[in-house]
Order: sequence, then structure tokens, then C-alpha cells
Amino acid sequence: MWWMMTNEGGHYCSKKSDDICGNVCGQESNRGLSMSRIRCIMRGLDLKTYIFLFALVPTCVFGIYVHGQKISYFLRPLWESPPKPFHEIPHYYHENVSMERLCKLHGWGIREYPRRVYDAVLFSNELDILTIRWKELYPYITQFVLLESNSTFTGKPKPLVFSAHRDQFKFVDPRLTYGTIGGRFKKGENPFVEEAYQRVALDQLLKIAGITDDDLLIMSDVDEIPSRHTINLLRWCDDIPPVLHLRLKNYLYSFEFLVDNNSWRASVHRYQTGKTRYAHYRQSDDILADAGWHCSFCFRHISEFTFKMKAYSHFDRVRFSYFLNHKRIQKVICKGADLFDMLPEEYTFKEIIGKMGPVPHSFSAVHLPSYLLENADKYKFLLPGNCLRESG
Ligand SMILES: *[C@@H]1O[C@H](CO)[C@@H](O)[C@H](O)[C@H]1NC(C)=O
Ligand SMILES: *[C@@H]1O[C@H](CO)[C@@H](O)[C@H](O)[C@H]1NC(C)=O
Ligand SMILES: *[C@@H]1O[C@H](CO)[C@@H](O)[C@H](O)[C@H]1NC(C)=O
Repeated sequence: MWWMMTNEGGHYCSKKSDDICGNVCGQESNRGLSMSRIRCIMRGLDLKTYIFLFALVPTCVFGIYVHGQKISYFLRPLWESPPKPFHEIPHYYHENVSMERLCKLHGWGIREYPRRVYDAVLFSNELDILTIRWKELYPYITQFVLLESNSTFTGKPKPLVFSAHRDQFKFVDPRLTYGTIGGRFKKGENPFVEEAYQRVALDQLLKIAGITDDDLLIMSDVDEIPSRHTINLLRWCDDIPPVLHLRLKNYLYSFEFLVDNNSWRASVHRYQTGKTRYAHYRQSDDILADAGWHCSFCFRHISEFTFKMKAYSHFDRVRFSYFLNHKRIQKVICKGADLFDMLPEEYTFKEIIGKMGPVPHSFSAVHLPSYLLENADKYKFLLPGNCLRESG
């Protein structure tokens, strides 16, 4: 508004700069006023600039320290392009349609007898989800293969949790090949190295379990559960791809929070001696739609959350110790927010923005593993409307 004042011939000076350039303002004629005014403002700014440097810069540095991950994840679409899309195979299923018909719908033939199926996992501490997994797959699995180590991927000692609770798993005993492996406890090593070491040991254990060519092998984490009918389809149909990824519904904390339908790491292999290696990364372009559930951090006790947060291959995400506070974790679970206070890992701005904030509540418990519903009292914490966890 100062230009209006000069038009009227007045000697105006902004209130804020009065102390600093009062003299100049008073002495100047109308003509020189604009120039000296700019100088006034510049000199006035000097002080502001100092305030800027002393207040704003440390704030920015602190902000980047706290939210650095968010900034880099948000900008990810700029420096990383999405991976090559999968070839999505539509999945047909209804309980009243014959297997022959189902195979045909997928463009496959039907076999005279089903393939043998091996389900192999590296086990950490997820007892509840392991029970649900094995009960879901039980009718179609030839051998369950489980390996556990006394080291977490991050090189911390861990008790042999499965071994201590083996009596809960009597129902699989005749079909179980169980192995343990000693951790290497290398300090400061990338956790992915210990993980790879354990996966190689799992290959050995599979041989001990008697896997042979063209048997089906499920490679997935314990919490990536293929649905029963998916495995039945794959064991009965001819000509299925030699390596097939499974598209799973992605849940967080329980079946109340459906994040997306895009989990892809689980895979099913037609075993080839000397060629098939147990892995958990992308191994082919083919993926079968809607093939099961991936339930991350689906634990009964808060202590299991903190254990997993520390034992995890991405343990660097625990940037502040208050992340492990039990009250905070309980709050985060009930909100469907992120345990590590991170942004979604996506490749486009649209997806990042679409997924920002807590996961919406889902009220559907339709098409979940049958054992979960048959034992709903025991697994209440996994069903919609029951976010409160047991402490301890
Ligand atoms: C589905 O199959 C079951 C037994 O296989 C039968 O009892 C039932 O009537 C069938 N339902 C329909 C809608 O065809
Ligand atoms: C881990 O297991 C190996 C082999 O069983 C054993 O030699 C080692 O002492 C164990 N380490 C810890 C910390 O339990
Ligand atoms: C996932 O798929 C189901 C149908 O199977 C759909 O109802 C739901 O909206 C999808 N969810 C997301 C987050 O895309």
C-alpha cells in the first residue's frame, strides 16, 4: 500500500523499518523515495535474514533429519521408474465348478493325478499366522518344511520359538521336515546377507525332505498365505508356468486393514533339481490374480511387534526409540497408521498420494482362511473390530 501514500506526497515509512531508516525516510523527497525505500527494506531485511538463518535453517535441518525418508520416498517417482509390469493371469474359481472345467478356463489341461506339493518357510516368531497358514494348506501339502535360526536377520540372538512350541503343531507332525541353523552373528553386516544364507540352508532341507522334479514348491514368507483352492488348482492342472508368482491381498496388522491387492513376492515353482533356488524376489513375469492373503505384522502381542521391528531386514527404519513404545504401537494399530511413520513405497505420485494417511477400516471377513473363522474366538485380534492387543 505504500505507493498510494507516496502518490499523496506523504513521507511514508513502514512501521517495522522505522527504527532503522527513520532518518532516510524523513529527509527524502518524493522522487528519490522509491529507491531509498528499497534500500530501507533491504536493510530491514538484514535483521530478518539473521533470524532466518538462526531459526529456520536448524528447523529445516531437523525437519530433513526427521522426515528425510518421507522426502526421498515422496520424490521416488522422479528417480525410479516402476518395474516391468507382470503378465496377469486371470484366476477363475467357484466351489461348485469341476476341476477339469477350472483348468480349462485357465487354458490348462487336467492331470490324471495331482502333483506333490512342498511348502517351505523360514520361521522367525509368527506362531499364530503359521497355524493359520498350515491349517489352510494342510489338505494339499505333501511335506511342510520349516527352518529356523537362533539369529535374526539383523544378527541378534533369538530363541528357537518353533522348537519351544512344537507341541502346538502335532497336526502336521507326520508331514513336517524341521531344521535349525546356527546364526553367524556378524556385526554390522547387511541383514540381507544372513537372510540369503538361511535361504541356501532351506534348499538343503528341501532335498532332505525328498523333493523331486515337477513337485510344486511354494516359496513365500510365513505371512504370505496362498488360498487352499489356489494350490489345489495348481497341483491338478497341466502346463502351468514353471515359475508363477501369486498376487495376494495385502493386509496390515489384521484382516481389518486391506492395504491393496498387490502383494507379489510369493511364488509357486515346478521344482527342477539343480536349477530351482529358494528366493523371495521377482523370478518370472507370470502372476496369478487373487491367490491368497499377505498379513504383515499380524501379531497377537505388542512384544511381537517390537521384536519384529528390530529383527527385520529393514531394521534401519526404527529411527527413534519411541517407535518401540508399547502405547504408541497400540495406537498406531487401531488407527491403521504406519509403525515406522513412513510414506507408502510407490512409483507414481498418484499412488503415493492415494495411499497417504491411515489404511481405511474394512468390515469384510468374507473369503478369509477357513480356520480363522472356525476359531474366531482364538484369533479375534485378526478380525475386523478387534484392534486391541494383549500386552506382554
Ligand atoms: C454345489 O455343490 C454341492 C456339493 O458338491 C451341492 O450340494 C450344491 O447343491 C451345489 N450348489 C449349487 C448352487 O450348484
Ligand atoms: C546358535 O546355534 C549354534 C548351532 O546350533 C550354536 O553353536 C551357537 O552357540 C548358538 N548361538 C546362540 C547365541 O545361541
Ligand atoms: C481389492 O479387491 C477387492 C475385490 O476382491 C475390492 O473390493 C477392493 O476394493 C480392492 N481393494 C483395494 C485397496 O484395491
